[in-house]
Amino acid sequence: MPAASVPTPAQIRRLEAAARRAARSSYSPYSHFPVGAAILGGSGRIFSGCNVENASYGLCNCAERTAIFTAAAAGERRVRAVAVYTPTPTATMPCGACRQVINEFGPDAVVVSVCDTADRCETTLGALLPASFGPQDLLNEPPQSRPRGRKAR
Ligand code: THU
Repeated sequence: MPAASVPTPAQIRRLEAAARRAARSSYSPYSHFPVGAAILGGSGRIFSGCNVENASYGLCNCAERTAIFTAAAAGERRVRAVAVYTPTPTATMPCGACRQVINEFGPDAVVVSVCDTADRCETTLGALLPASFGPQDLLNEPPQSRPRGRKAR
């Protein structure tokens, strides 16, 4: 896969604005911690999402994953950048599960977190998830591979 082109400052600004807007739709009655996210796809389109919680707490979905799954369902297969917004005094970074999901489509993605002050963090997925497990690992043949469907004796 060729390296994704670096997003322009204007694209990053638009992404941040989309993440801020998305947080308004957050469904977070349990944590009271609204999150908005937006991703810049390989096509140049922006997809946004918010966290969606559930009375069965373990089923809560983070904003980043909502945005990425929405993009994937629309046929997008490349994440060039991710913006996260929380209405907090300091910027919030994507959780571990979201880092793994970003890695699937955007191993080289730029990740930007913004909040309600000037505090911000701009980094890369590679810095947030070093030595990651990803699609390439599944291409490794096991040491004693055998044709599918044949039973070992
Ligand atoms: N949350 C996100 O949306 N993204 C993250 O990266 C971290 C956490 C949400 C999940 C839950 O709805 C709330 O924040 C509190 O954990």
